[in-house]
Amino acid sequence: MGEQRTITFSYTEFSNDTELDAEDKNLLDRARLALKKAYAPYSKFNVGAALLMEDGTIIEGNNQENVAYPSGLCAERVALYYAGAQFPDQHVVKIAISAQAEEFDVDYPITPCGACRQALLEYETNAHAHIQVILAGASGKVIKVPSVRSMLPLSFNEQKLKK
Ligand code: THU
Repeated sequence: MGEQRTITFSYTEFSNDTELDAEDKNLLDRARLALKKAYAPYSKFNVGAALLMEDGTIIEGNNQENVAYPSGLCAERVALYYAGAQFPDQHVVKIAISAQAEEFDVDYPITPCGACRQALLEYETNAHAHIQVILAGASGKVIKVPSVRSMLPLSFNEQKLKK
C-alpha cells in the first residue's frame, strides 16, 4: 500500500504592492524596470527579475529570447548567472520577479519555471541561507515565499550524485 506523505509550505499574500516593506517594494520596482528592456519578440511576454545581493547591490535581468526558441533564457537565470559571474563570493538575499505582456494585462503574480527554481536552489543551497522570492504581475496581488527550497519539493540535490 505504501504510506501517504504530505508536503506543505507557507507564503504571504499581499493584496497589492503598497503592502510590501520599502526594501521589497524597491526590489519589485527594479524588476519592473528591468522587464522594459526584455528581448521577447516571440512570446511578447516581458519578464524582469531583480536580485538583492548581500552588500545591497541590485542585479537586474530580463528574458532573452531567440529565433531558435529553446536557446532563449528566462529573466531569473539571466540575473542569477550574471550575479554568479560578477559576484561569486556574495549570496543572493532576495529575488523579485514581475512580468508585462504586450497583448494583455498580467494582473496576477508570475511564478518561476521549474528550471529557474532548480537554478535558484543551487545558490540557496551553497549559501546555507534562504533566498526570499517576491512574485508579482504588472498589477494585483503579490506573493512572498520565504525560500526557494519550499517551491521545489523533492528536488534533485548533490547527495544524489554520490553513492
Ligand atoms: N519567462 C521568464 O523569463 N521567467 C519566468 O518565470 C517564466 C517565463 C519567459 C520565458 C519566455 O521568454 C517567456 O517568458 C514566455 O514563456
